Amino acid sequence: MTRKSPFKSSDWVLLALFVLSLCGILLPRLMHIAAGAAFLAIALVHTRTKLPVRGRIPLMRQTGLAAAAILALLLAGVLVTGVCLTLQSYGLRTPAPNADWRFWHIVLSLAAFCAIFVHVLTQASRCMEGWRLYGAAGGAFVALITALFGIPYADRWLRHVEIDAAAAIAGPAVPARGHTLVVYFSRSGNTADLSKVDAVSGASFMKDRKSGRLLGNAELLALMAQSATGAELAQVRVSVPYPPGYTDTVRIAARELRESRPPEILQTALNGARYDSVILVFPLWWGTVPRAVESFFEKTGIKPARLLPVITHGSGGAGESVKALAKLLPDARISRPLTVYSSSVPHAREELRGYLAKELN
Ligand SMILES: Cc1cc2nc3c(=O)[nH]c(=O)nc-3n(C[C@H](O)[C@H](O)[C@H](O)COP(=O)(O)O)c2cc1C
Repeated sequence: MTRKSPFKSSDWVLLALFVLSLCGILLPRLMHIAAGAAFLAIALVHTRTKLPVRGRIPLMRQTGLAAAAILALLLAGVLVTGVCLTLQSYGLRTPAPNADWRFWHIVLSLAAFCAIFVHVLTQASRCMEGWRLYGAAGGAFVALITALFGIPYADRWLRHVEIDAAAAIAGPAVPARGHTLVVYFSRSGNTADLSKVDAVSGASFMKDRKSGRLLGNAELLALMAQSATGAELAQVRVSVPYPPGYTDTVRIAARELRESRPPEILQTALNGARYDSVILVFPLWWGTVPRAVESFFEKTGIKPARLLPVITHGSGGAGESVKALAKLLPDARISRPLTVYSSSVPHAREELRGYLAKELN
């Protein structure tokens, strides 16, 4: 039996606006802000029209109300993180300057999307039953999974990232005691033909708006660390560069991990140099340190007293890399690592500065 639909056209407008603002990570920033603000304003009116609820409430309705309450809290979080992210993007002050507002904004938005589906399904159960309800639940589930996996994927792969590298790097200095080296390994500088890379996206390469140069995530972090500390800067470069395709590079990195010999690297002028601290910046590769980093320490013979790992990743955090570094440099004091999600790299200057100020002194 089918009863009258409890949905009004404004409900569909709300859903469409929310989906549009979720996909807004691929749209110009102002469009994303406009869609998000319109959604929140209409959602507020929508909540007012649904309240109050009187009398005995059936279980399904109770679930719906609970989902709506959770949804309201999540949307409040989306609003707060959205405002802070906007302030941060325009270089203005935020309540917690070191917080990764972008990451929490995406997490809360995806959680809100899940809560919206529970809310919509409990509403749908008032006009549907049997196979219609199961069909709607199945459809909602598929849409949900697509969004949960698709949106972070789109964020990393399809969002074309252009930055002002000089502005991203500049900031207050961190006094560093002793002789310090910043050494980094990145896909930039290790890729055969940068003009053929398959993605200029949050996953790896960013384009500097002013020079047009492509920068790797680890490279940008290393430049931030170097500018903050004034330390010497060195790049790990393999003798045979990796191909421009991401998946080809992933395949070669897997082979390197399996093989007993790490890749050859180009000569550096640092051989035998002594450093009190080494800030080592690298991308997580197959859950650990790229093997070229191993070659670097073996070839140069550098044995730092203290090692500060700064790791950029695509959701794997530090993986097994600290264990691998401890094996590689058994005499070094290894600080807790700083991990930066790939698409958060352009905004990581403050977080990195806080980390270095704490760990270097
Ligand atoms: C060969 C290869 C393997 C990777 N393996 C992982 C991994 O295991 N876990 C992860 O979270 N990210 C992984 N990534 C993603 C990178 O760590 C991430 O995109 C990083 O920000 C890239 O930094 P880069 O631009 O300096 O190379 C891998 C990337 C490549 C190219």
